[in-house]
Formats: sequence, structure tokens, C-alpha cells
Amino acid sequence: MSLPAHKLPAVGRIHLADNLEVLRTLPAGSIDLIYIDPPFNTGKVQARTQIQAVSTEDGDRVGFQGKRYRTIALGSKRFSDIFDDYLDFLEPRLKEAYRVLAPHGSLYFHIDYREVHYCKLLLDQIFGRACFLNEIIWAYDYGGRPKNRWPAKHDNILWYAKDPQRYVFNYEEIERIPYMAPGLVGAEKAARGKLPTDVWWHTIVPTNGKEKTGYPTQKPLGILRRILQASSRPGDLVLDFFAGSGTTGIAAHELGRRFILVDNNPEALAVMAKRFAAIDGIEWVGFMPPQEALTAATQADLFSATALGS
Ligand SMILES: C[S@@+](CC[C@H](N)C(=O)[O-])C[C@H]1O[C@@H](n2cnc3c(N)ncnc32)[C@H](O)[C@@H]1O
Repeated sequence: MSLPAHKLPAVGRIHLADNLEVLRTLPAGSIDLIYIDPPFNTGKVQARTQIQAVSTEDGDRVGFQGKRYRTIALGSKRFSDIFDDYLDFLEPRLKEAYRVLAPHGSLYFHIDYREVHYCKLLLDQIFGRACFLNEIIWAYDYGGRPKNRWPAKHDNILWYAKDPQRYVFNYEEIERIPYMAPGLVGAEKAARGKLPTDVWWHTIVPTNGKEKTGYPTQKPLGILRRILQASSRPGDLVLDFFAGSGTTGIAAHELGRRFILVDNNPEALAVMAKRFAAIDGIEWVGFMPPQEALTAATQADLFSATALGS
């Protein structure tokens, strides 16, 4: 089934669909920035179970001052991360990504150490080697530490421009970070901070913070804010076609950019419905958010006009 070609959104549009179908409906050159964080082909089903400890006399866990607790599972969110041929899956989607990018546009491709080298070769073929600008290392420090190798505590983000002579890089807009040794650079420089390098130290989404949605593999807003500040301008259209919990859309909205998000997992759409509930003017395609998530009656009209197959 093919999707009707939509006009581009004024605020944001969120699709429940296979991303290849949606990409094929987008006009060439219509997108200013793409960020994607595809499944990493870990060979597992990615799942997060949210739990809550309830105080009860017959609980199986003993806590502070001998109080007993029972753990209840609140729910589980999951998506499959197993592909027979990962590069065959990515290639048509990356070719479409290249087609829909504006001449000044860029792609940020988020992946991990297992697949990054293969993906770099594929992206070099599609964009051309000269269009590769950076490999950003997002370093964090969380989770288990195996004792038989160096603990892998980073992700890789490959940045490609459609045209290496005219891409957007808002040097002045990027939030600066503290110098490691401020005493060595003088008071004025130390107070201004420095431009981040291609190694970004940033915590994962805090496990009990208010940013956490419970969606597996949710990425931190801080990483997306930095990418959008550097490589897009207010009013630009940002696309994330492996959207998950919708982090890219939230960062885009906060920074005054428009966005298109796509995910083929209804659980991702359910998480996004909650996350975007307070934002007016979102268009939902192929998915009806719960009534309380709709902020205006016109949203329902919009849904019926644009739903899959209509
Ligand atoms: C690693 S997660 C993205 C997480 C996201 N960056 C966040 O911050 O929440 C990858 C997502 O891609 C989605 N996905 C996988 N294959 C897809 C396809 N063919 N079309 C659309 N979405 C797909 C999965 O459902 C999953 O939600």
C-alpha cells in the first residue's frame, strides 16, 4: 500500500508505518536535517520492563528497616533488532534519505561499534567519501563491565553532508562546555567555555529522571539538542525515520524546528502520544492517539483525512 504524498507539516507529523513507504512519498530536497538511530542489529529483541516496588507484609524483598516489598511489572516495551541482512535493509532507506535531503542538508547516522564500519562503507557509496564530515563518539559510563575485554561504553554517530561545500554548521549556536583544565586558558576563555570536540561525554537517559519514557534504547535529549543546534536553523524541517520514543521531535520542537517522525512499532507511537500530548498541531498518520492526548477536535479530522489507506 502506498501513502498519499502529504504537504509538509507546519509543526510536526508522526507516522505509524514502515519508513521506506513514507520516505518514498517525501519530495526530493525537502528535508533540512536527518537524524536516525536505526536498530543496531544486536540480534536480540530490545525490551524494557518498568517495575514498581509495592510495600506489603508478604513481599519477597526486604528493604530498609526490614520493610517488605513485592515487585510488580508495570508493562514492557519492545522492538525486534534481528535482521538477516542488515545492510540490505538499510540501503534503500539511506538512498531515499539522500534523495529527500536539501542541497544544504545533512544526515547524522547513530550506530554502535559492531556495525559502524560496514555502515560507513555503505554511506560512502551513497553520499560519496568527500561528504563524510565527522565520526562523533558519544561516550558514557553506565551498565555492566565485562572482565574479558575493554568495556564498550560509546556509540558512533556518522555525519554526512549532501554537499561538503554548503552544509549548515552554526558554530556560534553550539552550547559551549567547560575546559578540562580551566586554569591553563585564562579567566575570560574559561568563563566562555569551549566548543565540544568530536568526543561527546554525556550521560545516558537517567534511569529515574523525568526524561525517561521507558522505551528501550531512548537517546538523551542533550545529544539531539546539540546536533539540531549545530546543523539546522529555526523553521527547518527535521526528519527521524527510526523515531522510537520521539526524542528528535521533542528537541526539534524545543528549538523551533518542524519535524517528521516515523516508526513501525505501535508501542513507540503510544509512547510518543504521551510525550507530545502537550504540543498543539501535531498530525498523526496511521495512528489514533488516545483521546486525552488530542488537544483540539480538529486533530481527529486531520487523522481521518491523512490515515493510511484513506
Ligand atoms: C534504536 S530505536 C530508536 C530510539 C530513538 N532514537 C529514541 O530516542 O527513542 C529504533 C526504532 O526503529 C524502529 N524501526 C525498525 N525498523 C523500522 C522500519 N522499517 N520502519 C520504521 N521504524 C522502524 C523500531 O521500532 C525502533 O523504535
